[in-house]
Amino acid sequence: MKQFFKISLALLLMAGLVSCNKDKNNPGYEYFPDMAHSPAYRTYSANPVFADGLTMRKPAEGTIPRGYMPYPYKAKSFQDQVDAGLQLKNPIPVDDAVLAEGKRQYEIFCMDCHGEKGDGNGYLYTSKLFTAKPQVLSGSFVQNKPDGEIYHVITMGSLSGLMGGHGSQILPENRWKIIHYVRTLAAK
Ligand code: HEC
Repeated sequence: MKQFFKISLALLLMAGLVSCNKDKNNPGYEYFPDMAHSPAYRTYSANPVFADGLTMRKPAEGTIPRGYMPYPYKAKSFQDQVDAGLQLKNPIPVDDAVLAEGKRQYEIFCMDCHGEKGDGNGYLYTSKLFTAKPQVLSGSFVQNKPDGEIYHVITMGSLSGLMGGHGSQILPENRWKIIHYVRTLAAK
């Protein structure tokens, strides 16, 4: 038994020595070489591994970007606009800084149509570049709407589609700030 152990040890030692290689460029035998050196595919290159042949994969279904809130209310749906009005609350408390930023955003995104005072006489309308009469934001029609409904109109556009949605251009928090500012336009 002892003999056997000695011989095995000697064999093992020999095998160890034999497998060493003076040639530094040769890694010798590798266990699963395609695991040690996995083939890397470039993002936009064709890929034989997936059925659709694409290397860049779609995010798993149902995943959303960090900080992104899904918006469940549909465009041009009266019911969805009403629901948004009932269910969405303005999360931003109003103060001077918020109103100042709301005004700034309003002047960038709304004033050209709705006018500086919210009377619907913005430059795009008065110059006839835009022919649909923008809604009077200072009047009771808009002022009587809950914040969530105005948020819906900013995000998805008006029911008729004459005003387009601004959801891809204005950050959610800035939409709420604009709404605070629009309240200050109410005809006194
Ligand atoms: C390109 C011109 C244009 C821009 C820019 C625009 N609007 Fe409008 N908006 C309109 C028109 C036109 C209407 C009337 C649409 C209708 O009757 O369907 C309207 C309607 C509205 C209404 C009433 C919707 C309703 O319930 O019937 C609100 C509120 C409103 N706009 C807010 C805004 C705000 C806030 C901004 C800036 C974020 C803005 N709009 C930017 C043209 C514009």
